[in-house]
Amino acid sequence: MNAINRLLLALGLAVTALPASADSVRPVTDPLTLQACGECHMAFQPAFLPARSWTRMMDGLADHFGDNAAMAADKAAHVRKVLVDGAADTGGGKVGAKVMRRLGPDATPLRITETPGFLRKHRLPASEWARPEVVTKSNCPACHVRAEKGDYED
Ligand code: HEC
Ligand code: HEC
Repeated sequence: MNAINRLLLALGLAVTALPASADSVRPVTDPLTLQACGECHMAFQPAFLPARSWTRMMDGLADHFGDNAAMAADKAAHVRKVLVDGAADTGGGKVGAKVMRRLGPDATPLRITETPGFLRKHRLPASEWARPEVVTKSNCPACHVRAEKGDYED
């Protein structure tokens, strides 16, 4: 292998190891989390909330936005770790850093859709939210068709 090929290979590897763009976020791949947190809505990427929010959410699963999302203790411990490890302020990468930059030091939101970072990117006309397929703001895939893959471009 010549030097240029080696360089290209090195660059290629570097590029594929990075997220596709600054707006993509590491998708949830853990099977248990996909199952437990993808049952009623898409499994939201942990990068959109700080670790303290995920901890608060996991502590209150029996009353989760009016639903009971409780699960066995061993499963909950596993899911909690996946969420906390990938959170905005831990493994959340660039998108996580953007979420944190705008969040107050003590803010512990349970809704991604109420974080300043989200609100800033979603100053959309009311007619957009009112489209019948949207149903609720948290229905990311209605507008971001590759949301579950962590791709939020356009
Ligand atoms: C039994 C159904 C159910 C399960 C299971 C469930 N959720 Fe939810 N979740 C809901 C409902 C209902 C809402 C409120 C949706 C809305 O108002 O748009 C919600 C909302 C959320 C939101 C806030 C969305 C926003 O507005 O930004 C997050 C974050 C969330 N869930 C994470 C999780 C996680 C993490 C798990 C797994 C531990 C989970 N959910 C499991 C039903 C569920
Ligand atoms: C009603 C449609 C709609 C819904 C629902 C929606 N979004 Fe968006 N989102 C948009 C639009 C339109 C933009 C582009 C705004 C811009 O680039 O200024 C955007 C931008 C974004 C961006 C920034 C991407 C970039 O290129 O800068 C992220 C991240 C994002 N959305 C995440 C989410 C998440 C997470 C959810 C669900 C909790 C969600 N969105 C729900 C319409 C939506």
